[in-house]
Amino acid sequence: MRTEKICTKRAEQSAVVCRKRVFASVLAPMRAALLGGGGIVFTDSNVFGLYQRQLKTYLAEVPVFVMEAGERHKNEQTLFALLGAMREAGLRRNSTLIALGGGVVGDIGGLAASLYMRGIDCIQVPTTLLAQVDSSVGGKTAVDFGGVKNLIGAFKQPKAVYADPAFFKTLPRRELRCGLGEIVKHGALSAPLFEKLFGAADLFDLGFLARIVPENIAFKADIVRRDPFEKGLRKCLNLGHTTGHAIELHSELSHGECVLWGLLFESRLAQKYCKADAAFAESLASLCFRVLESAQTPPLDGLQCARLDKKNAAAETVVLTVPVAAGKYELLQLPYSRYEEEIVKIKEELQ
Ligand SMILES: NC(=O)c1ccc[n+]([C@@H]2O[C@H](COP(=O)([O-])OP(=O)(O)OC[C@H]3O[C@@H](n4cnc5c(N)ncnc54)[C@H](O)[C@@H]3O)[C@@H](O)[C@H]2O)c1
Repeated sequence: MRTEKICTKRAEQSAVVCRKRVFASVLAPMRAALLGGGGIVFTDSNVFGLYQRQLKTYLAEVPVFVMEAGERHKNEQTLFALLGAMREAGLRRNSTLIALGGGVVGDIGGLAASLYMRGIDCIQVPTTLLAQVDSSVGGKTAVDFGGVKNLIGAFKQPKAVYADPAFFKTLPRRELRCGLGEIVKHGALSAPLFEKLFGAADLFDLGFLARIVPENIAFKADIVRRDPFEKGLRKCLNLGHTTGHAIELHSELSHGECVLWGLLFESRLAQKYCKADAAFAESLASLCFRVLESAQTPPLDGLQCARLDKKNAAAETVVLTVPVAAGKYELLQLPYSRYEEEIVKIKEELQ
């Protein structure tokens, strides 16, 4: 068992714990406290389908609210339906919401917990690889609104996060790839992690993933601890994301797959504009392709969206966080027209 503590300036403290057999060891002992308005479990239809037997066994009679699975339900309707269910269940100020699911459940559950009676405790039990290494750590919560991703949200540190590798057994390979996208990003920012990833015989091996998750949580938790409200350092976690998000808006690829392509494109830009280490760029590219398991370059129809990225400081300028060497990154600012020209050229080179 490994515990990371995140203590923010608002004196909220949050523990991230890697814990096996989470139903029996963590949730069952909480059952009595969760009954009679003490708490609610929030999950999605897929996770409920897969784990309802455990919910029945270990949390019998604790109210469960199930949302339809999928990012398109990460909206204000689901948020308010959940808040309604919390009221129906008679939750009080000292009640607890347990978010059992991937990043969608975690983001909505965290936001509902921050709003209900001006804030109740939230415990995150992330069930996807992405949620364990990324979205459940750091206290960012949100729903999409008016076609804009994560427009309405809040910082809400969960009381605790319990990450159990047993959930990976039911995850489709594509969801593993999605989480691996963020793991490779962490690797680009941390030389020791990069070495482990590069040396791994099978990046999708569940045993390997179980070993690498605590290290990823520790890495992200350390950054969040030092910059909980994303004033500076935490922006390094946007590595590969400007181009990744722009690709994501107009493609069928998952978030993690788009991040991997973002890393590939932006590492080439870093070689040209930031004198990035060529050997590192080559290793990073080979790692990205091992996870992508496809060399089919993505469509760039959404590239214009990079113009609207939150990090941009001036009109028609794109600011990117780019990888320059193992564990090192730089901020690169380019006029949008030059950025677009270069990305199109890189796509041709990669084809
Ligand atoms: N808050 C943050 O800091 C942060 C960071 C990164 C991403 N996010 C958000 O996270 C979301 C993406 O998270 P995600 O990739 O976990 O998506 P998700 O929650 O939609 O889960 C992906 C799919 O896997 C299913 N699933 C979940 N656990 C499973 C399991 N153990 N076995 C089988 N299937 C399972 C889900 O039902 C869903 O169909 C996005 O909305 C993104 O904006 C938030």
